[in-house]
Amino acid sequence: MKITVVGAGNVGATCADAIAHRELANEVVLLDIRENFAEGKALDIWQTAPIHLYDTRTVGSTNDYSKTAGSQVVVITSGLPRKPGMSRDDLISTNAGIVRSVTEQIMHYSPDAILVVVSNPLDVMTYCAYLAAGIDSSRVFGMAGILDTARYRAFLAEALDCSPKDIQAVLMGGHGDTMVPLPRYTTVGGIPVTELMEPARLEAIIDRTKKGGGEIVNLLGTSAWYAPGAAAAQMVEAIVRDQKRIFPVCAWLTGQYGLNNLYMGAPVKLGRNGIESIIELQLNEAEMALVNDSAAAVREVMGVLDGMRAS
Ligand code: LAC
Repeated sequence: MKITVVGAGNVGATCADAIAHRELANEVVLLDIRENFAEGKALDIWQTAPIHLYDTRTVGSTNDYSKTAGSQVVVITSGLPRKPGMSRDDLISTNAGIVRSVTEQIMHYSPDAILVVVSNPLDVMTYCAYLAAGIDSSRVFGMAGILDTARYRAFLAEALDCSPKDIQAVLMGGHGDTMVPLPRYTTVGGIPVTELMEPARLEAIIDRTKKGGGEIVNLLGTSAWYAPGAAAAQMVEAIVRDQKRIFPVCAWLTGQYGLNNLYMGAPVKLGRNGIESIIELQLNEAEMALVNDSAAAVREVMGVLDGMRAS
């Protein structure tokens, strides 16, 4: 079994490393447009196998998609990352062209693949891949919610001085500053977080979560990679091991939450067939208002993409 990661930058290489380390496939193909770049990263990752004691081969390719043929899952990380002062949406024109072309080439060699999109602006790049792939939306979705809830959970673990393992959370909406962490669906060892923390403190953590990607861009001058790469690998694991895990995922909504025809974060069940179901929470009015605001923000960027396609 083969898994491909397109884009051997920081996120792609971190994701390939995690996939190999967990032995999620016999072979991981890392592909990049830059001459010898994926080959170098793949060789370096493969040379950790005797240390970490695993068998998965990581193989690099400079834009030769025939090497990706027959992949079961393909993670698309291609595109420019953010620089300080940029929003994820500023990347749309460059990254849309890249994601479209990558998707077409991937589908040519792996028509049965499941696509996990990581490129930004995430929700709209997932839509872009969906349009280019021409396959069912259960097989095209995006990674954002696992990353965003991981940030939220890490902040909560720090604030409560408890294990991040015990924090469960749901988050909805787009992968941008309008994302909607849901305190009513956040628990610590089964205890609602609202019983453990003052509302103002929780609100501050929610606010930091929404800006969590930007916080790292400001510190590093480029976007994050350890948590995004690990989050994408966790989705790959749920698929190839048919775990049927419940994760917030950027999914194509067809009436759920009263929202139609847009990609946005919602809780789903992930297994061998990709998205096996989208879970509809009983949101209250205030939560639904936030989700609707986030959907409107995603639709605005979708409109930019649709405008580019029309012209
Ligand atoms: C982030 C980027 C990867 O949130 O979107 O860090």
